[in-house]
Amino acid sequence: MKGVILAGGLGTRLRPLTLVTNKHLLPVFDRPMIYYPIECLLNAGITEILIVTGGEHAGDFLKLLKNGHDLGVKRLAYAYQEGEGGIADALRLAKDFADGEKICVVLGDNIIEGNIKKAAGDFFTQKSGAKLLLKTVDDPERFGVVRFEGESADQRVAEIIEKPSDPPSNSAVTGIYFYDADVFEMCDGLEPSARGELEITDVNNFYLKRGDLTYETLEGWWTDAGTFESLHRASNLVREGGANHAQMPTGASA
Ligand code: DAU
Repeated sequence: MKGVILAGGLGTRLRPLTLVTNKHLLPVFDRPMIYYPIECLLNAGITEILIVTGGEHAGDFLKLLKNGHDLGVKRLAYAYQEGEGGIADALRLAKDFADGEKICVVLGDNIIEGNIKKAAGDFFTQKSGAKLLLKTVDDPERFGVVRFEGESADQRVAEIIEKPSDPPSNSAVTGIYFYDADVFEMCDGLEPSARGELEITDVNNFYLKRGDLTYETLEGWWTDAGTFESLHRASNLVREGGANHAQMPTGASA
């Protein structure tokens, strides 16, 4: 399975910081944000990685990561997203890289404490479709949220709603997704949402309607880092020692 990190977008919620650099190059405690999704994939044994980015500072990814070998990436590829057309728009650029294989997609501003190795293994043996990782949160209105149906012993995902004003549950869809090769056709068929973006939630709902969507609950803490509050929280969580990033060099000298 190959890995895709989506690190495009303009990071407008982090201005003025993102006027001079890409959001995913900002520090999260002692490392640039982009190190964490790379580490997430490496910890799952995924060593062929595409980074989709964009904007004026895209060249800085190459300066920082080079060919990725120092970090343990076997093959590091880059793609450039014009504008800010949404997560599913950025994902379309991964079609040639994926080359028919299953992929694990990680949003560049998502940071986790634990390991997705088990979920990756489970998806590897899943015949087709998609898998989501869910996490209970206190502020579901900021995320894609699951509406469940059925009794608790037999709960099924009925629908995923993007940033609902009245969330039907506290189960957020994290920015770690597993897809088969059909995802690219689905992205191509999307219409822009009210906010003018191709929404990954629409893709997930397509898989759901097809009866081809599974989910697991993510263990350990999870945060995004796309707002000042969440960026600060991410740094604190990493500093408190939760993130298992022993293999990722800081580049700092004693
Ligand atoms: O963090 C998980 C959440 O991420 C999910 O629960 C939501 O369903 C999903 O829509 C997304 O919500 P956000 O509003 O937080 O996404 P945001 O626009 O902040 O984008 C997240 C990352 O996706 C960003 O760090 C880079 C990448 N991205 C985003 C856009 C809009 C791109 O690569 N290109 C883009 O055009």
